[in-house]
Amino acid sequence: MSPVTPFCAQDYAALAQDRLPAATWAWLESGGADELTANANRNAYARLKLRSRVLRPLQGAHTRLELGTRTLAHPILIAPTAWHGLVHPEGERATAMAAAATHTPLIVSTQSGIAIETLAGLNPAPALWFQLYAQTRFEDTLALAFRALKAGAKALVLTVDAPVNGARNVEQRSGFRLPPHIRSVHLQGLSPPHPRPAEPGGHPLFSTGLLEAAPTWDDVRRLRDALGTTPLWLKGILDPDDARLAIECGVDGIMVSNHGGRCLDTVPSTLGALPDVAHSVRGQIPIVLDGGIRRGTDILKALALGAHAVAIGRPILHALAVGGATAVAHLIQILRGELEVAMALTGCRTLADVDSGVIWEPTRKVSDGRAA
Ligand code: FNR
Repeated sequence: MSPVTPFCAQDYAALAQDRLPAATWAWLESGGADELTANANRNAYARLKLRSRVLRPLQGAHTRLELGTRTLAHPILIAPTAWHGLVHPEGERATAMAAAATHTPLIVSTQSGIAIETLAGLNPAPALWFQLYAQTRFEDTLALAFRALKAGAKALVLTVDAPVNGARNVEQRSGFRLPPHIRSVHLQGLSPPHPRPAEPGGHPLFSTGLLEAAPTWDDVRRLRDALGTTPLWLKGILDPDDARLAIECGVDGIMVSNHGGRCLDTVPSTLGALPDVAHSVRGQIPIVLDGGIRRGTDILKALALGAHAVAIGRPILHALAVGGATAVAHLIQILRGELEVAMALTGCRTLADVDSGVIWEPTRKVSDGRAA
């Protein structure tokens, strides 16, 4: 039975599932194929244990951090997700109001149902980043980027892990169809992809021409050059070699993400991939991780393994479905509060204290060699 009052992210999930049509829930919640990666994203946190530390001084504790050139009040961002109007009539406007109220950067999706100019005009103004999907024509990608910057976007986030859609069988079985009143407003007027029907007997994807428009590292370099000093992030990095290539292209940060397990099934969980990526990045650029974060302890674990901040996807849509802007703000406050409790009980006064030392290792030895 669903809770009456939500006290945590999963309470919001249960309430949202009760309220939303089954097909909308399937669109929102589903992962790719057998959902092994989507499930692994969440399960990875349960396997890691925390190390409780007592009696440490915690006066003046805070969650502030520098992320790139910006100071944030806490390490939580709202991940880009498409079409908020599917779950609440006020759509991205409500999400943006919650973002402003909680000092949380909102990464607006290319597939937003409300234009970034409208969101930027809200009072108080939210801190907006803009997520880019590379368009068929590079000029269209640039036009999107400059439109977002003109509206006041503080950073651009190019999503690189979804040049084609993953097979989301759960969504397919549900019969989900995008209602005609929900549109990706930023894409209006741009050249849509022109996939050819697959050749009879040919490759189902390779003969459609879709991959001819898929972005490459050359496009990242071109974008980097065209954008000058604008912060440019790549979203969807899982591999340490790709992280190095991203640094070589001059990007300002990466998001370790597997699209919430919605694209290629059986890739590792983001928490599982993080340590190798962090090792390869060697602190040269900041890392934001998303995927499966449902608790403040999850945030602490991601930061301990090398992320500087985290982004939240589905739980934002769950809260939005349940209670619009107020519920999204409440959810962010819950996660932030849980993070603060986790920091206090692991003896971390600030995020600078959060490192691999907060993770419990059963074989840990004390400094004089006695088993701890
Ligand atoms: C997404 N995601 C996504 N990513 C992106 O770059 N652009 C987009 O438009 C979308 N749209 C989208 C819709 C829905 C319904 C979901 C669930 C996800 C991926 C998203 O940014 C993020 O990577 C994941 O959602 C993170 O995992 P959690 O927090 O949902 O577990």
